[in-house]
Amino acid sequence: MEEFLGNYKRTKLCGDFSLKDLGKNVTAMGFVSKYRNLGSIMFIDLRDRSGVVQLSFLEASNKTLFEKASHIRNEFVIAVKGTVQARGKENINPNLKTGEIEIIVNELKILSKADTTPFNIGDANVNENMRLKYRYLDLRRAELQKILILRNQITNIVHNYMSKHGFLHIETPFLGKSTPEGARDYLVPSRVNPGSFYALPQSPQLYKQLLMIAGYDRYYQIAKCFRDEDLRANRQPEFTQIDIEMSFVNDVNDIIKVTEGLIKEIFNKTLNLNLKSKFKRITYKDAMNIYGSDKPDTRFEMFISDITHLVKETEFKLFKNNTEKGHSVRGICVKGAANFTRKEIDELQRIAMEYKAKGLFSIALKEDGISSSIAKHFTDEKLNEIINSFDAKKGDLILIVADNDQVVCNALGAVRIAAANKLNLIDKNEYSFLWVVDFPLFEFNEEENRLVAMHHPFTSPLEKDLKYLDKNPLKVRSKAYDLVINGQEAGGGSIRIHSRELQQKMFARIGLTDEQIKSRFGFFVNAFNYGVPPHGGLAFGLDRLVMLISKTDNIKDVIAFPKNQNAQCLMSDAPSEVDAKQIEELSLVIKNKN
Ligand code: AMO
Repeated sequence: MEEFLGNYKRTKLCGDFSLKDLGKNVTAMGFVSKYRNLGSIMFIDLRDRSGVVQLSFLEASNKTLFEKASHIRNEFVIAVKGTVQARGKENINPNLKTGEIEIIVNELKILSKADTTPFNIGDANVNENMRLKYRYLDLRRAELQKILILRNQITNIVHNYMSKHGFLHIETPFLGKSTPEGARDYLVPSRVNPGSFYALPQSPQLYKQLLMIAGYDRYYQIAKCFRDEDLRANRQPEFTQIDIEMSFVNDVNDIIKVTEGLIKEIFNKTLNLNLKSKFKRITYKDAMNIYGSDKPDTRFEMFISDITHLVKETEFKLFKNNTEKGHSVRGICVKGAANFTRKEIDELQRIAMEYKAKGLFSIALKEDGISSSIAKHFTDEKLNEIINSFDAKKGDLILIVADNDQVVCNALGAVRIAAANKLNLIDKNEYSFLWVVDFPLFEFNEEENRLVAMHHPFTSPLEKDLKYLDKNPLKVRSKAYDLVINGQEAGGGSIRIHSRELQQKMFARIGLTDEQIKSRFGFFVNAFNYGVPPHGGLAFGLDRLVMLISKTDNIKDVIAFPKNQNAQCLMSDAPSEVDAKQIEELSLVIKNKN
């Protein structure tokens, strides 16, 4: 029979016992993480979220107690009373915070027994599905506990910093209307309004702008967001933003100043850094041209070079103008990679092709000469000109893509990262912070054959580009910005449109009819009739910040109860079927079941 705690009161957490407690009678509680029965003495490692302390049971001092302890197994939950004693010199464990002491137990309560767990707690090499199914056991692992404790530290820093800077934490609804972030919505059917649905917020975007219109001046929220989109290593369907909005701002610097301060505070406090100087900035255009990405990893160079002008007159047909959207030939020089095998280059080509490139051309400057499938198409002089334009030396590998600008840059951007990873060029202990600014206001969506807002339709254009809005909208840049950390989009935002006319024009440009505007954003557009302060804001991905600081590349590690790649919770089996009665009450009919 498992026992009750009775009047036992814990003296302190397991990991907090130290030499200062020598000789004291203490009470400790926790999970058994290890037991060793040596016949006349038994050791138990007692664990809680703070760490581990060693308990010792001596047969000679209390036979009944020893006998009771001998039934203890891993993951039993126990409480003990005992005396703190220094360990003999030879038994000191330097790897343990409490390694200099142990508790000699004189009373024991077995509070809860445990079956053999499906995997050993602490074993990180267990299949991920298994760990997700028994998430509460995996969460006992010290590494995960450390990350969730870090996450709590970060949210505390956020609350303190934002409050110090005059921001109010205001909650916004989960049950609301569809928001404009561009992913699919998670919908919730309404029972009392048959046929109508709430949308879970993809972000609190409209609400935070309405709070500015309502006069709250500075808002922030640690906000849950929901997006039904393809999942990746840094994406979850349910994730958290540090969401920020402020009034009476017109300049991106107003937002960048406050939010950069927050990021510095978070990184400095959690990692003991001393980030002081301003984060670097790059325009979207330069980021695409130099790094082939709007979230460039700037921890290594390997810049993209444009050789279109060098090769446009050559006879090699793949390097000649052959696309409607403007021809572009660019490449990167991978230092010291001339000896990449055919297989390794094929792998890089496969990556380029994922980004719609038709191929990846290579020129390897090997010790014994040039190895390249395309060299024969050029005169020696031209080939040297190409090689020199990359500043390539013996031992280097040049990789080239020819297509339109967009395909070429995207493909080379991806190849650049893959090559750097292969050559271990990225210092995992370095942090590089970069603001990407001057994003285009629109992009062209080929599938829908129309302009769409690159950020969202409430983003303000740059004043000096307003003149292009009617005739050349793709040329209009916006007051949008992203913060990129180590090649990851850590956050993004914009100065918003606060003029009615401009907002209407923006909607018209992305092809929304008056009817659509009314049904989708009617309440929002109406609010613009009653006085709108100029405003702007940003949202950081909290999960991504925790990932960067804890140096994990798996977002599931930073969320207590994450979903798998199919947006399922393997522990609770959500989503799952519901009673026919519930479906009926919601006036729904299920057409296809899995
Ligand atoms: P955006 O859509 O860029 O902007 O999102 C802001 C930040 O949220 C994080 N993020 C995610 N993290 C994990 N899983 C996801 N599925 C996911 N999607 C986004 C990223 C991203 O930079 N309302 C605007 C912000 C604004 O304009 O103020 C917005 O939501 O780190």
